[in-house]
Amino acid sequence: MIKGDFPTEEFQSLRTPFYYYDLSLLRKTLAAVVKEAGKSESFRVHYAVKANSNSRILKEIAAAGLGADCVSGGEIRAALDAGFRPEDIVYAGVGKSDWEIRLGLESGIGMFNVESAAELEVIQAIAASLGKVAPVSLRVNPNLKAHTHVNITTGLAENKFGINLEQVENVLRMVVGHPASEFKGLHFHIGSQITELTDFYDLCKKINEISNCLRGNGLPVGDINVGGGLGIRYEHPNHFPMADFKSYFEVFRKGLKTEPGQTVHFEPGRSIVAPCGSLISRVLYVKEGTSRRFAIIDGSMTELIRPALYGAYHRIENISSDETEELYDVVGPVCESSDTFGKAVLMDRCHRGDFIAIRSAGAYGESMSSCYNCRPLPASYFSSAK
Ligand code: LLP
Repeated sequence: MIKGDFPTEEFQSLRTPFYYYDLSLLRKTLAAVVKEAGKSESFRVHYAVKANSNSRILKEIAAAGLGADCVSGGEIRAALDAGFRPEDIVYAGVGKSDWEIRLGLESGIGMFNVESAAELEVIQAIAASLGKVAPVSLRVNPNLKAHTHVNITTGLAENKFGINLEQVENVLRMVVGHPASEFKGLHFHIGSQITELTDFYDLCKKINEISNCLRGNGLPVGDINVGGGLGIRYEHPNHFPMADFKSYFEVFRKGLKTEPGQTVHFEPGRSIVAPCGSLISRVLYVKEGTSRRFAIIDGSMTELIRPALYGAYHRIENISSDETEELYDVVGPVCESSDTFGKAVLMDRCHRGDFIAIRSAGAYGESMSSCYNCRPLPASYFSSAK
């Protein structure tokens, strides 16, 4: 959606800040994912609900036929409410509470991605008490470095996620030898916002090695879940409105050595929803500082925390003005210096009341919003999809 496509007339009557989602882009993206993944019969895509759990968005994604990747009982409920089939839900997370495990078992979800021996014992005990058999995959920590922000790398031995390579065999034996669990496969996730596809090639190589090793020791491998992580082009939302799904799935088609009957699961979040969402705010004041000019907007880190938390870049546009460009530090009203969306941002000259779009905010924007400073949670609106 380019600048002129934002319906600023319609925005006039709305209270800012709010999220604005381009449903036609979301649908195009989903169609591309379904098409590219569909080239391999064994590929199954589960949308990572944490990226955006807005019910309207979830319904679109469920309707496109994707499964759901959840990390909490709340996400399992949201996915079920949106129409995802329970058997298409996978559930990961290092700290699953008893009620969440019970909810997963009682709803009949497809898979628990188990992250430790201690967790496995609790899942087996709860399953046994309910007279159920828990479908279990093991989340393996492959000790692989991904080229991304340190806070969103997950596949290194020093990270809290997954079972270390040395322990995998023992935990796997605990799964297969127990009447209250059924072994489903192996799960991996090396990080998020990964734009170098070689990282995924490296993951494939590592998975092949691990699979060979397990088979060599007479153990089953089951299905493979490669997690999520495909990045998007935050600098160029108009030129690259969609991630390169074709090349992404191709990497796994070529790199993973699978056997007949083995399914490959994917868990993309950001790449599906980030480009279709913008945070829309109004300029409250333009303030001349000693050395900088500030555009103070009514949106803040409570609606979009990524810049404050990770120093993340989002493209910022004044969608109300066509005047000469000027440099602004774009800041919110929250009492934290980190409540800054961008420094020295080149934007068309700002006036009180102008609409500012912070782009590519559809992932980890609304879903990470908070009520800090007693601010209300943001509303969401949707383009009338063509
Ligand atoms: N699967 C697992 C096990 C995950 O932990 C994640 C993300 C995904 C899939 C989806 O990854 P994606 O395709 O969205 O990269 N709040 C951060 C990102 C945190 C990602 C956490 N895990 C951000 O705003 O950049």
